[in-house]
Amino acid sequence: MNDIILQLSGITKTFPGVTALDQVSLDVRAGEVHALVGENGAGKSTLMKVLAGLYKAEQGDIIYQGRTTDVAGPLDARRKGILLIHQELSLAPELSVAENIYLGAWPTNRFGVLKKRELRSKAQAALQALGCAFGPDVRVGTLSVAMQQMVEIARAEAFSASVVIFDEPTASLTDTEKEQLFHTIRSLKARGVGIIYISHKMDEIFQITDRITVLRDGQVQGTLETAQSDVNQVTRMMIGRTLDTYFVKAKADFGAEVLRVEGLSKAGLFNDVSFSVREGEVLGLYGLVGAGRSEAVETVFGVRRADSGQLVWKGGVIAPPTPRQAIDMGMALVPESRKEQGLVLMMGGRENTSLPHLSLFSALSVMNRAKELATFEKYRSALSIKTTGPDQEVSQLSGGNQQKFVLAKWLCAGPKLIILDEPTRGIDVGSKSAIHELIAELAEQGLAVIVISSEMPEVLGVSHRVLAMSEGEIVGSFEGQEMNEENLIDAVSYHRQSAVG
Ligand SMILES: Nc1ncnc2c1ncn2[C@@H]1O[C@H](COP(=O)(O)OP(=O)(O)OP(=O)(O)O)[C@@H](O)[C@H]1O
Ligand SMILES: [Mg+2]
Repeated sequence: MNDIILQLSGITKTFPGVTALDQVSLDVRAGEVHALVGENGAGKSTLMKVLAGLYKAEQGDIIYQGRTTDVAGPLDARRKGILLIHQELSLAPELSVAENIYLGAWPTNRFGVLKKRELRSKAQAALQALGCAFGPDVRVGTLSVAMQQMVEIARAEAFSASVVIFDEPTASLTDTEKEQLFHTIRSLKARGVGIIYISHKMDEIFQITDRITVLRDGQVQGTLETAQSDVNQVTRMMIGRTLDTYFVKAKADFGAEVLRVEGLSKAGLFNDVSFSVREGEVLGLYGLVGAGRSEAVETVFGVRRADSGQLVWKGGVIAPPTPRQAIDMGMALVPESRKEQGLVLMMGGRENTSLPHLSLFSALSVMNRAKELATFEKYRSALSIKTTGPDQEVSQLSGGNQQKFVLAKWLCAGPKLIILDEPTRGIDVGSKSAIHELIAELAEQGLAVIVISSEMPEVLGVSHRVLAMSEGEIVGSFEGQEMNEENLIDAVSYHRQSAVG
């Protein structure tokens, strides 16, 4: 199948101080999966938002099914058959699955009354076509991230989409859910749908895509046939150099114990979790998504209450803290999802209200202005955060740059213990190693560091010791020679088998 279903031609889009897209051209064939890659802030999401009618380009054309097309807005795009599945999901949690699938396009009779039966049965059909395990009446807020994503994908069925765009779809999916998603993508592809796939995960890109277009600073660097290229070539086009896959580990020079967790349990989430971490130590928590790692550290940080167990902080037993108390004691938790948790969670109501307008300045906690600026500059360059300046609103940063900023914010607070939950999720390949270096640097400064990661090379590369977690339990602890891929896989998969069998 070589018919071009969509052509973007000479698209230019600027924001104050940034040319996000500069004469971008790209074509998508019916039945192909076309990867769009580039560093954080390269313009990927912006390009897709232009295509989906969320932004208006200053220049350029969208040629869709052979015709120059004006996309008036997201709903117009959906009606025309162009569907964007967002980097951050965008569903209404209070509404039902059916209402969400047809959000903004509910079927009504001539008096404007909602045709509930029709809505429900159409939604049901779309869900069935995808093999979803849940029905149209469920409230979306009660569904897992993967299921919510399926609700968004169900719109592709419901609106008979011809072009579907996935913006970093696998960030919060378990391996099984990812395989399910790939299955769905393959069936869309088989039906002749053109798919645009944005990801920072090279292995996925080489697994699922047919062609790859590389964006850099808003400009197309080229389009490659996936089968005829390799990771090195793509990386070089993205960031202008190749990467060594070499990890920097902090010197193993440990001080006093900072935190000890004893027999922490919470029904349905994790059971009898015990571990400790010392000054200067990087403790890795490996496990598959859903293993209970995030829930366990959130409990340490006071976001959740444990049913039983206790915390020992710097040698003394402490009462379960609130997040505010945890911060005051010197704990920091950099959560995995930036928008929902990274900025909101740890602040009071007043600050939360002003959150959407928060400037980089005010978010960098209370420091004097000069120091604040110096700190901002330090992290901006260390993590190559792409902003127009310290006053740019966080909400205007690209997804990956928001993530880097959340990290910087916590580092500025000068913690004793820092917990990093999937610190490189959504981060481009070039900046990943900068974050790994930073982790080593923090440990060498004497911080205790806990790193949660589903990426095995990462967790092995940065940690001194790794705990394997599965189904809410710690199923292995490895250091030195024992700390290797084989042992981690064994620990996790043996436990899962025995849990099932
Ligand atoms: N609403 C906005 N206002 C101002 N600038 C914006 C806005 N949206 C995006 N930008 C800027 O446009 C550039 C491209 O951002 P975009 O979100 O497209 O990047 P991306 O390639 O999707 O990155 P990531 O991999 O981090 O998601 C960035 O410099 C970003 O700060
Ligand atoms: Mg993006």
